[in-house]
Amino acid sequence: MRIGMLTGGGDCPGLNAVIRAVVRKGILHYNDEFIGFLEGWRGVIDDRTMPLDLVTTTGILQRGGTILRSSRTNVKKIEGGFERCLEVIALHKLDALIAMGGDDTQSISVELAKRNINVVGVPKTIDNDLSGTDACFGFDTAVTIATEAIDRLHSTTEAHSRVQVVEVMGRDAGWIAVTSGIAGGADVILAPENPIDIDDVVRLLRARWESGKRFAIVVVAEGAKLPEHTGQTSVGTKLDSFGHVRLSGIGQVLAEEIEKRTGYETRSVNLGHTQRGGTPTAYDRMLATRYGIAAIDLVHQGKFGQLVVLKGTQISTIPIADAIAKTRTVTPDLFEVIKSLQPQP
Ligand code: F6P
Repeated sequence: MRIGMLTGGGDCPGLNAVIRAVVRKGILHYNDEFIGFLEGWRGVIDDRTMPLDLVTTTGILQRGGTILRSSRTNVKKIEGGFERCLEVIALHKLDALIAMGGDDTQSISVELAKRNINVVGVPKTIDNDLSGTDACFGFDTAVTIATEAIDRLHSTTEAHSRVQVVEVMGRDAGWIAVTSGIAGGADVILAPENPIDIDDVVRLLRARWESGKRFAIVVVAEGAKLPEHTGQTSVGTKLDSFGHVRLSGIGQVLAEEIEKRTGYETRSVNLGHTQRGGTPTAYDRMLATRYGIAAIDLVHQGKFGQLVVLKGTQISTIPIADAIAKTRTVTPDLFEVIKSLQPQP
């Protein structure tokens, strides 16, 4: 078969591991031929491709980013965009397309499937918030990076008797904040799932000081909101082509508020894209490899319009449309874990 592949949306460690797995199994077991579209859906519209074979995909397993590069191109916003996609797919005589991406990228896959394109989806988001799958590759790497940063921040925060606010990624769900916060022993963990209760934050920090520990770490997800803020804290007002604002800055807003209310010297650091960079963890390489193999198998089973997912420890599939229908937020039991480690009101 002739198969196209692309990676769309924000990158995350593990994308190359998926590409490698698809290409290896496809060539070695099914005699497939591949082309890679560059920069997500943009590469399909512009017909910009690169060859994908055993040579071009050698040595990429441990590399972050994506050799296909990525973009947040919304085909729905491009006049004649879908017609152009169909034209380019026909031009390359493709039998199927494997699209790696989160809900935005997969919303285009759904539209193409409706137009009789044989699409298989691979879930990808560092935020780990795609419903239908228990895990997205890249998340474990992001959590590892954030936890290491929190570990490192402990010594300098203690040396200066400060509060250190650490802002991490997580637009609609606080998976990175909650997981790295618990793993890193943060004193306060704030996620988009609940509005920030600043009185409670102050209470927890005062309790910490009174216990004799005169420093504290606060982890906050970029999408967390103070009730008095009408929207999420964003950099400017520019929206990407899927209508999302660029989030950043809740950490600094919170740090100023904490210092004002407690008098404790407070600093903030935004880990930002550091969390998406560099080599994937072994867990993410493994998950990405399993997804890649499942995706190429689905193509050969003729199961199109499906997304490969992880259910417990097993790889499974669900319709792509179901996966993008809602956000997978942090489960209440994890917020209970956080509370169990904190002094009661
Ligand atoms: O959607 C994943 C994500 O990493 C969000 O957590 C973050 O808000 C956004 O992407 C950043 O996007 P960009 O790379 O376009 O700045």
